Amino acid sequence: MHPSKWAILQALSGGDFVSGEQLGQQLAISRAAVAKHIKSLQQMGLDIFCVTGKGYCLSAPLTLLDAELLQRALTALGYRAQVQVVTEIDSTNSQLMRAIRAGQRLQPGDLLLAERQTAGRGRRGRQWVSPFARSLYFSMYWRLFDGIQAAMGLSLLVGLAVADAVAALAGQQVQLKWPNDVLLNGKKLAGVLVELEGTAEGHCDVIIGIGINCYLSEHDAQNINQPWTALNQYGVSIDRNELAVALYHALQQRLARYHQLGLAAVVDEWNQLHAYQNQPVMLLTGEKQWRGICRGIDCQGGIVLENDSGRRSYYGGEISLRREVVG
Ligand code: BTN
Repeated sequence: MHPSKWAILQALSGGDFVSGEQLGQQLAISRAAVAKHIKSLQQMGLDIFCVTGKGYCLSAPLTLLDAELLQRALTALGYRAQVQVVTEIDSTNSQLMRAIRAGQRLQPGDLLLAERQTAGRGRRGRQWVSPFARSLYFSMYWRLFDGIQAAMGLSLLVGLAVADAVAALAGQQVQLKWPNDVLLNGKKLAGVLVELEGTAEGHCDVIIGIGINCYLSEHDAQNINQPWTALNQYGVSIDRNELAVALYHALQQRLARYHQLGLAAVVDEWNQLHAYQNQPVMLLTGEKQWRGICRGIDCQGGIVLENDSGRRSYYGGEISLRREVVG
């Protein structure tokens, strides 16, 4: 982002009126240049209004992500991760993937956050709506040494870490939908996209991408094509810096336990949070579908379906799970 535009945003972030003249003087730019930057911030979706004689004001105060604060908080918790915050990027997951492919020396735990994603990605090729400063766009680099099959369990754990962080900071109990959607009262609050680069058996680079809806408005969400929710709908006004730290900490703790004890240690806990547990469901791939009662996950991270043919586990990222409306 242009430094003057960024400075204007910071000046307005407290939610008070700031005149164009004041901004111009502060930044040594003309009032016309101030107006141009304001217009471009509005085009990014920021709700800035102008009152003659008073100046510009954001409709609500805005807490921006603060890389230094985040770095200090994670260091204080004993983590040695590098934290990077960017104002705009296509996708934080894509950016980490480019870094891996370019041979950059990433350390497990390195974190990339963005204020806005212009091409945020969801599972199964979907778009992830990522307006400026409205949500958390979080990607962490990780490494697996026991091959790609360990990644399925890892990706289920991430849902639990999101549940931990949302409970700790927002006091809300989420549900999980296999493999790793995070729902609040049946609507999508957060999504997880785990991406891998490496060999099937050996060392494998992992990107853990998480998006949590914090302050989405109807306008922001007009391109979301599934029932959605955001923390602000529950009267929760969250500081995204605090959410990022809580999520990072929860993720690290969950990963440490996973590497020690495996997925088996959390199967019951995961199934207790499963939104479709013991309910009639349908599993879908491109061409096939199976019906049955959902019995949750197994120790390998597959989803267990019970029907007249018995119990069977299903695995794989291309399967989707739907609640079956009976009757
Ligand atoms: C889904 O539920 O479909 C997964 C959504 C994952 C979104 C996050 S936001 C941060 C990271 N960067 C991306 O492009 N996607 C993930």
